[in-house]
Amino acid sequence: MTVEPEAPAIVVLGSINMDLVTTTARRPVPGETVLGSGFAMVPGGKGANQAIAAQRAGGAVRFLGAVGDDVFAAQLRGALTDAAVSADRLRTVAGPSGIATIVVDDSGENSIIVVGGANTRMTELTEDDLAAIAAADILLCQLEIPVETVSAAARHAHAHDTTVLLNPSPAGPLPACLWADIDVAVVNSGEAQQLGAVLDAVAHLVVTRGASGADYRGPDGARLSRPSPRVGVVDTTGAGDAFTGALAAVWHRGPEWALTWACAAGALATTRLGASSSIPAREEITAALVAE
Ligand code: RIB
Repeated sequence: MTVEPEAPAIVVLGSINMDLVTTTARRPVPGETVLGSGFAMVPGGKGANQAIAAQRAGGAVRFLGAVGDDVFAAQLRGALTDAAVSADRLRTVAGPSGIATIVVDDSGENSIIVVGGANTRMTELTEDDLAAIAAADILLCQLEIPVETVSAAARHAHAHDTTVLLNPSPAGPLPACLWADIDVAVVNSGEAQQLGAVLDAVAHLVVTRGASGADYRGPDGARLSRPSPRVGVVDTTGAGDAFTGALAAVWHRGPEWALTWACAAGALATTRLGASSSIPAREEITAALVAE
């Protein structure tokens, strides 16, 4: 009999956006107008996507973030609760929710502009937020909320032996002291280049390489690479989030298992349109790995 380990308690601190997704044969160059082929509104945001991905992949996830008091708020909250992510720490602030304008072309590649809205108001952590972080196995963060909040959360997590996973996306200037509190960094190859030597300070580094899979470098210099399963790509939006959330959910099983599992989750997410709408369930990930 195989005994499944208990679901890891994961706190995701991050953004939640309404994605306004337009599909088109090809993305316009500056100054050009092209005709689109479709439009959809899909809940997204790197934080919410990763929270849903971690929950679907087997974690027990609580989300810390903010929505506005606009027409999108209820749907955004519903996207978390429908996925069984705990949203009791999701606040409502005055003003608009986060919005992402996304254009996806026929090759599945995208361009994204995020207007932070309520996410920019995630400037404080309450006593309850800090208690949730201290009690969790993993804190998972990205950079679509103020970096000061991410730094404070990481410091608190580190002081309470909660493993800190950072997906520094979108990549930007970060306080040097933040890196001392990060146990695992998950970056794509562009972010790895942009961030450069600061990543050397991180114990566990995971670099995603799209359809080519992912690489890992451990604290003892151990290295491994995992390929990505071959799939028909519809939309790459949220694939990195599916990867990162799945990685967090199985990190306790070790990097080899975690990379394999996360590569399958990321690949499956590219086979459907949208971000949160494309994130695979645990059973799908398992089936994809068995079929390999
Ligand atoms: O990583 C994909 C996400 O980036 C989208 O859901 C969008 O909201 C932006 O945050």
